[in-house]
Amino acid sequence: MTTDLTEAEIGLIRQKIKEKYSGVAASGAGGCFQYLCGMEGLRKQDYPEDILRTLPPAILAPFCGVGNPFSLGALYPGDAVLDLGCGAGVDAFIAAIMVGPGGWVAGIDVTPEMVAKARANLTLTGLANVILEVAEVESLPFPDDSFDAVISNGVINLTVDKEKVLGEAHRVLKPGGRLMVADMVLVSPLPQERAGRIENWFQ
Ligand SMILES: C[S@@+](CC[C@H](N)C(=O)[O-])C[C@H]1O[C@@H](n2cnc3c(N)ncnc32)[C@H](O)[C@@H]1O
Repeated sequence: MTTDLTEAEIGLIRQKIKEKYSGVAASGAGGCFQYLCGMEGLRKQDYPEDILRTLPPAILAPFCGVGNPFSLGALYPGDAVLDLGCGAGVDAFIAAIMVGPGGWVAGIDVTPEMVAKARANLTLTGLANVILEVAEVESLPFPDDSFDAVISNGVINLTVDKEKVLGEAHRVLKPGGRLMVADMVLVSPLPQERAGRIENWFQ
């Protein structure tokens, strides 16, 4: 993908994003975002109440997704699912409940503190069909044709090379697999005073 950003700017963006999300892992999502997070966000996005009720409230608090990937289509018992940028793990856990013990879910995130938080949260869920790894969505540590569905929530907007991310998602999906993404997109040009600011990436 062509970009106007220099290598130094791309490095700074990646570093600042990791710093931001390591702070979210330590202190929670409250006050870090301009949209509703935690239980309020999950309810606003119409996540299924019956599934939310089965998860400890404390593990739902760090949810900082921007939408609801599960509103885009079903997951089926036995599915293998990958959550790109799983954060503290809420969507990965919900997917694991949906696919049941015959299925499994992999969650990956670039911020080690987020993955540590997700692993700690996983122990509170009793789920045995989730794996969580530190990895970049631009370079997925899985073979071709591994997953029935790839989900993602609020992550791809943070990546500089979106074509690469989508190419990787396509590579690891089985033929006929589904990509279910909730994310933010620009619907009009940024105001002049904000356009081109590196800070846009991590505020
Ligand atoms: C807005 S949060 C969403 C977290 C989670 N999906 C949720 O709904 O709660 C964005 C997440 O994307 C992760 N992230 C950002 N860039 C990434 C990349 N290049 N590869 C993997 N994860 C990334 C961050 O570490 C952060 O946990």
